[in-house]
Amino acid sequence: MAQKDTLILGIESSCDDTSAAILKNDTILSNLIAGQKVHENYGGVVPELASRAHLQNIVPVVDAALKKAGIDKKDLDAIAFTKGPGLLGSLVVGTSFAKTLALALGIPLIDVNHMHGHVLAHFIDDEGKSKPTFPFLCLTVSGGHTQIVLVRDHLDMEIVGTTIDDAAGEAFDKTAKILGFKYPGGPLIDKHAQLGDPNKFTFSKPKVKEYNFSFSGLKTGILYFIQKEVQKNPDFITENLNDLCASVQKTIIDILMIKLTTAAKDLGIKEIAIAGGVSANSGLRKRIEQLGQELEWNTYIPRFEYCTDNAAMIAITGKFMFQRQLFTDQKVTAQARVPFEKVGS
Ligand code: KG4
Ligand code: ZN
Repeated sequence: MAQKDTLILGIESSCDDTSAAILKNDTILSNLIAGQKVHENYGGVVPELASRAHLQNIVPVVDAALKKAGIDKKDLDAIAFTKGPGLLGSLVVGTSFAKTLALALGIPLIDVNHMHGHVLAHFIDDEGKSKPTFPFLCLTVSGGHTQIVLVRDHLDMEIVGTTIDDAAGEAFDKTAKILGFKYPGGPLIDKHAQLGDPNKFTFSKPKVKEYNFSFSGLKTGILYFIQKEVQKNPDFITENLNDLCASVQKTIIDILMIKLTTAAKDLGIKEIAIAGGVSANSGLRKRIEQLGQELEWNTYIPRFEYCTDNAAMIAITGKFMFQRQLFTDQKVTAQARVPFEKVGS
């Protein structure tokens, strides 16, 4: 007898994107994201403004995701939502909405760790793309996190390296702010870097133990270097914008790759994935592919819409938890910090 399809609604609201997705087995039927332009001029996400925008966006986004998928909410088998980590006020909106809808529909509620979602985005069916085999290493690089994750199974993963201060995305965004770009500046650095010389300027790299990272020294180094140059030539930034972006991007990628290659070698793993918002970076994507050829890795790079925050990754994580009946209940609350190793409430 054919197995019954599983239909899961995923909801993501951990930072500044309100997203809803409908997953049928391993296939995404819809994955809609409402971004928030309101933060552009502040150099970062303003938590109070983010939660207000989530409140406005959540109902239309979920409604549109159901409509696009051609699904009636009564046909859903479960609702998976991001419980954390993230901004508490933002998480509360998605969590409260998910709890209410699950209660009204009388279906299971699944609390997902946002960081597991980034990793498991690799298991969404995507034409022409193969899925990593276990164990694999996933470099998860986003605005809030920088992690090397050893993934033993869908729900069995461990952080083997992490940042001791800023995340890689913050290094991009803070440099972008120094250069005068709006938030989030990561994609703009990427764009300008494609036209610049990555070896024009060099910045020192941190010395951090084991597979850990540090980016705050780089940010300070860039700030002091630019301040000094601008004193000599007020047009320094505009005259060198592309080269500055290319050089900073190269340094960030170098820092990431040094630790990733060491971890892969030490652990004897050749299945290597990248995930998170910074994995949308064209330089990083190219470098991972080059390294893969040199070191005989099988590399896995998510499609763009599954790199930055999205509800599809929450829905697929929810599916693996659904299969193991890892459900939560109406007592669940949003949490700004969630232990990585623990799956479910
Ligand atoms: O995963 P994500 O959407 O949200 C968090 O969970 O943090 O990641 C957002 C981060 C931001 O720092 C943004 O600047 C960065 O990802 N980002 C990029 C690119 N696209 C997004 N950084 C560099 N190059 C890009 N193309
Ligand atoms: Zn994220």
